[in-house]
Amino acid sequence: MVETKADESMKKVLAIYPGSFDPVTNGHLDLIERGAKIFDRLIVSVLRNFEKEPLFTLDERVEMLVEVTQPWPNVEIDVFSGLLVDYTQLRDADVILRGIRAISDYEYELQMAMMNRKLEPHVETVFMLPAEAYSYVSSRLVREIAQLGGRVSGLVPPTVEQRLRAKVL
Ligand code: PNS
Repeated sequence: MVETKADESMKKVLAIYPGSFDPVTNGHLDLIERGAKIFDRLIVSVLRNFEKEPLFTLDERVEMLVEVTQPWPNVEIDVFSGLLVDYTQLRDADVILRGIRAISDYEYELQMAMMNRKLEPHVETVFMLPAEAYSYVSSRLVREIAQLGGRVSGLVPPTVEQRLRAKVL
């Protein structure tokens, strides 16, 4: 009995935060900061076989994530392909972390979480809310604004802003 309690108290929770991150935004970063506080380890993992044509290559997306997650030693960056639940098993993760900005995200996220639970009942999806200031920020809008010559400062980390500028020149 005592042993079980000790084992339980020593359990380390590993969460995976999956996404396209094309590019990482301040909203993603806010969620990473919250996740890094709650979970023992957090793996931010970039989907490799992204259906749409990405603006940034996989390597560029990973590089930006590595750069902007320097402040959190328990955060690791990785890539994955195939089913997310297979990847969570491969990494022996307990949790899938996802952000919900608004009600409009909820339906898609609920469907994905329920499907992932059906495929792999042992992994738990945990939703976190980013700060209100980022509730309207998305990679898609950031890309569009940058491509049309608008300002994205405050929406993405400075290094991403620079890379966006270089990309759309
Ligand atoms: O940042 P995104 O584009 O909203 O992330 C979506 C992502 C990568 C989490 C989702 O597309 C995914 O998990 N893809 C992997 C393939 C998979 O497992 N599909 C079944 C989901 S129920």
